[in-house]
Amino acid sequence: MQSWFPFIPESASTVSSEVDALYFYISGVTVFFTLLIAGIITFFVIRYRRRNPFEIPRPIEGSHKLETLWSVIPLIIAMTFFVWGAKVYFQMYRPAQNAIEVYVVGKQWMWKFQHATGQREINELHVPVGRKVKLIMTTEDAIHDVFIPAFRIKADVVPGKYTTEWFEATKPGRYHLFCAEYCGMNHSGMRGFVEVMEPTAYENWLSGNAGQTSPAAAGRGLYESLGCVSCHGANAEGGRGPALIGVYGSKVVLSGGQSATADEGYIRESVLNPQAKIVTGFGPIMPSFQGQVSEEQLLQVVSYVKSLSTAKPEAATSKPPPPAAQPSATPKASPKR
Ligand code: CUA
Repeated sequence: MQSWFPFIPESASTVSSEVDALYFYISGVTVFFTLLIAGIITFFVIRYRRRNPFEIPRPIEGSHKLETLWSVIPLIIAMTFFVWGAKVYFQMYRPAQNAIEVYVVGKQWMWKFQHATGQREINELHVPVGRKVKLIMTTEDAIHDVFIPAFRIKADVVPGKYTTEWFEATKPGRYHLFCAEYCGMNHSGMRGFVEVMEPTAYENWLSGNAGQTSPAAAGRGLYESLGCVSCHGANAEGGRGPALIGVYGSKVVLSGGQSATADEGYIRESVLNPQAKIVTGFGPIMPSFQGQVSEEQLLQVVSYVKSLSTAKPEAATSKPPPPAAQPSATPKASPKR
């Protein structure tokens, strides 16, 4: 942002100037009152110092007017922090619509990224300028944290669940990405770059790195090799297990009568801990796949299930998936990565 003030990183996302404005406002108010109070204390110390050893101070009666004033004014100031802060918070943490989705897996000590179209990257993330990018993140080991100072975004990456954050870069450039959660010996080395590109350059980059299996297609491969097909059907149309077509994003009614939204976390849990939420009308027969799939593979399965809910199941793939109509007793192949 301002090069004369090196503590402020570059401002390169749609929320960064908002975050800065709030930050400067809070800092300004804090500095103002610190100086004011320090000044008044100094003044009183001198003005009302004891002038002779036998002086007895005059007792002070309370003043309701003063008490009210110095309660109400700080309350109003604190509420401006709260209201403005809440506004920026909601802007940042409301899930992004129509965003490019990127899967992020942290591990000691690197960042692995995979685009919906299959491109993989390590410690480097290419994104287009002026588009919302949503990061769907998890970790293979310790807690990490994706921090991109120039975008003013930061979110923990927690074992066993998905967290998300999004940004929309406003100018092309190369920006630092740091791990901001102490995660062991090489925590300080767990960093990378976000490369923000003009849309055409980004398209070129994507096509230059095409030909890798998309996460949805890889997920389809796992769906078959892990034997999911035998209960959920060759085309995920259902069988002994619930149909998976159209399930992502929908409200699922559970056997206890409660319901759950089938988001990424729900799909993940259904694979690792199927007994946690049983869809109504089905028995608790699904085995857990805990320990059989890596975090990356899980994301691929999630991506496949998500692809079943968009207009065309294979829309996101860059490689045609295996033929759709396969017998449900597919031989178990080793999972493709
Ligand atoms: Cu990963 Cu610190």
